[in-house]
Amino acid sequence: MGVRTSVLPNPDCGSAQTNCGGNSPLMPEENLDNLILYISALGVRPQRVWNEGVENQQVLQGREQFRNIGCAGCHTESFQTSEFHPLAEVRDQTIYPYSDMLLHYMGEGLADNLGEGLASGGEWRTTPLWGLGLSACVTGGVTNPTGREGGEICTPDHAYLHDGRARSIEEAILWHGIEGSEGKISTDAYKALSVQNQQSVLRFLESL
Ligand code: HEC
Repeated sequence: MGVRTSVLPNPDCGSAQTNCGGNSPLMPEENLDNLILYISALGVRPQRVWNEGVENQQVLQGREQFRNIGCAGCHTESFQTSEFHPLAEVRDQTIYPYSDMLLHYMGEGLADNLGEGLASGGEWRTTPLWGLGLSACVTGGVTNPTGREGGEICTPDHAYLHDGRARSIEEAILWHGIEGSEGKISTDAYKALSVQNQQSVLRFLESL
């Protein structure tokens, strides 16, 4: 984007461009601090596990399956934030990001061969799954089929994974299963589930 900061002073021009704004001024440190503060304080939508006041059994079963087939091995369910975090608002909280925040090798099929920082071109950070059920609203926007006030729903065009290639949550899961991927064992376990249990896993993921 050509925005230079003290953290990343040299823009990554890619292979097809030589000069992509390396002479533009650095973003002032105060603006960068404000930007970081803004992002740090953004809230996460709560999980929608309740259906008219009753806990949705399918969602709870899906969570069990999610744990049993090893998804939670990388998509770590919860963490406790530090009591020493500089922002009082986020101190000492139990959060449910569903990510270990670590890099994993996900196989040739998902590799873009563009290394970044410490990550090789085939390694990706475990995507946090909180908000997953609403992410199509962010990547694709909302539609309002009824036209009524408050009737907005996420667009039917979904896009998951680092480049948006997966058009459904299930497709994203199946992409984990490429030969050599660290996610293969749990993808195979997902494929071996009964259709009913697979549906529960998907229902759970949509509730996040
Ligand atoms: C070896 C670690 C690992 C395991 C095990 C794993 N994942 Fe993932 N998951 C990842 C990584 C890394 C990504 C990001 C890959 C990418 O963007 O190309 C990801 C991405 C996803 C996404 C896409 C999220 C988005 O917003 O684009 C979904 C959905 C997902 N995983 C669900 C699952 C489910 C369900 C299971 C169990 C069947 C599972 N994962 C097992 C590491 C793992």
